Amino acid sequence: MAFIEQEEINRIRSSASIVDIISSYVPLTQRGKNYFGVCPFHEDHSPSMSVSDEKQIYKCFSCGATGNVFTFVENFLNISFAEAVSVVADKIGLSLSVKLTTKKETKFKEEHEAMDLALKFYQNNLNTEEGKQAIAYLKTRNLLEDTIKDFSIGLALDQNRLYKILSKKGYSDKLLEEIGLIQKGENGFYDLFQNRIMFPIHNLEGQVVGFTARCYLKEETPKYINTKETILFKKGNILFNYHRAKDAIRLLKEVVVVEGNMDAIRLYSVGIKNVVALMGTSITKEQVEIFRKLRSKIILMLDNDNAGEMATLAVGNLLEENQIPFQIVRLSGEKDPDSYIIKNGKEAMEDVIKNAISFIDFKLNYFKKNKNLNEATDLAEYLKEVIDGLKNTNDSILKEVTLQKLSNDYNISYAILKEQLGLTEKAVEQKKNKKQEQPKVVQNSYDKLCSKILFYMMNDKEFIRLYQTKLGVFPTKEHRLIANEIVYYLEKHKTINLADFITYAENMNLKEEIMTIIRNEKDLVLTEEGMLELLLIIRKKIKKEKINQLKSEMKEEYDINKKMALLEKITELKKENE
Ligand code: CTP
Ligand code: MN
Repeated sequence: MAFIEQEEINRIRSSASIVDIISSYVPLTQRGKNYFGVCPFHEDHSPSMSVSDEKQIYKCFSCGATGNVFTFVENFLNISFAEAVSVVADKIGLSLSVKLTTKKETKFKEEHEAMDLALKFYQNNLNTEEGKQAIAYLKTRNLLEDTIKDFSIGLALDQNRLYKILSKKGYSDKLLEEIGLIQKGENGFYDLFQNRIMFPIHNLEGQVVGFTARCYLKEETPKYINTKETILFKKGNILFNYHRAKDAIRLLKEVVVVEGNMDAIRLYSVGIKNVVALMGTSITKEQVEIFRKLRSKIILMLDNDNAGEMATLAVGNLLEENQIPFQIVRLSGEKDPDSYIIKNGKEAMEDVIKNAISFIDFKLNYFKKNKNLNEATDLAEYLKEVIDGLKNTNDSILKEVTLQKLSNDYNISYAILKEQLGLTEKAVEQKKNKKQEQPKVVQNSYDKLCSKILFYMMNDKEFIRLYQTKLGVFPTKEHRLIANEIVYYLEKHKTINLADFITYAENMNLKEEIMTIIRNEKDLVLTEEGMLELLLIIRKKIKKEKINQLKSEMKEEYDINKKMALLEKITELKKENE
């Protein structure tokens, strides 16, 4: 971030009241000098987030979320940093004098340009003579011209034409290979995608980062060729169609999750815009976090086949563990949402979405598969599986209703079923406790002190002066690097405070380390005596280490003169201590 931008951002930050801004999203109540509210960044009902008017930062005691007014708005609305700055500016009636760019926009600039050019090239191919067959294929798939345009669908041709064109434009082989457009073969580089329909894949911000390429001249294996993991394309961090769908999702507080890109394209193009595709049947932790941030109910609608059903169970389990609210749709008749809409229309699709079922209802059905419930062993296994499926639910009424239903349907004593549930829940509880008992990584006590000193420094330039005069350097590299950043910040801005330093830290490699320090130290009372005490302890530690070092050197030294010199040094150091 350029210096001038940071100044402007600081000005907006200091004109805004974090209490006012946060309370426009989350109700806050004052207790003492701080304000408290329910943290929106994890599932919670008690007010574990505190907002400090004095420091202009927030912190959640439960999930550890922390930051300044911008990070709050950024994470709450799930928007970019630059967008968050303009939201805050708007709210307080200030206008931005410069257009802010996010770090991401400037990162990999050339790579993104090459990607955009490839996209344009593919799109243009569709309109050529050679594109006619592809257009015909897209028609058989019921894709209208508008949809082709909206989704920037294109066509990759043969003869390494993309490679030739992009090389001519000056893009290096290395760059093109790195973004996954070309590959090295025996006769040099060649286009990775050839004779395939190209569907661009965008990252969450809406930049094209990869492609999924479908065969169309005949059915081939593989049906799709995808961009492999590249510097731009991290499949696990992406949901297909997210950037188009996100506003509709936020508005409706609901997101339809499908497997295939074609499914997402179909739903979107008929006007069910709150849809994203997993691009397959698995879901990553990062994708779960994207859903968490959307704070919307998921409608999980995977394909109508075995794989889709098994994936529904697996994805459902992960969502449940992560306490993301969701319901399930299992289609009947057609193999996937795409063909379901083509066959039955938009309204039918809206109906099945409205009639989505709970996870437990899905499981009641799913576990029946391949069982003969008239047989004792099968029935027993079925009941155990369903009851086991209740263990992660917090909904006690749902548990009760399910047990009653099982008891009635299969004529089994309710008490026995309840007992079985008790056992599985106990096992879950024990597992949880065991996890908590594991020793936390004990942070070295000196590390803790260094973190405290750094926290002091982020709050006030006087503390930086004290650090410079009384210590000057930290014994460990990580702390040294952070201290350098703080000192650099002060030199540039002539002043420092925690909330503005957070903005600066947001754009750095050391962001996580810095945020951890702030998370841990927020309620530290800052006094000059406190700071001096900490600095003294670290100085003593450095000295002690130095002395030990010299002592061991002395032990191994056989030259008597050198030995004496070392001893002298040690005595000198020791004297300094007093
Ligand atoms: N997929 C893939 N590679 C394959 C098959 C599937 O990457 N060989 C991914 C694609 O992202 C695809 C998704 O898994 O969109 C779902 O697969 P599938 O249902 O087979 O594809 P559809 O999107 O339904 O495509 P189509 O209707 O053209 O067959
Ligand atoms: Mn499909």
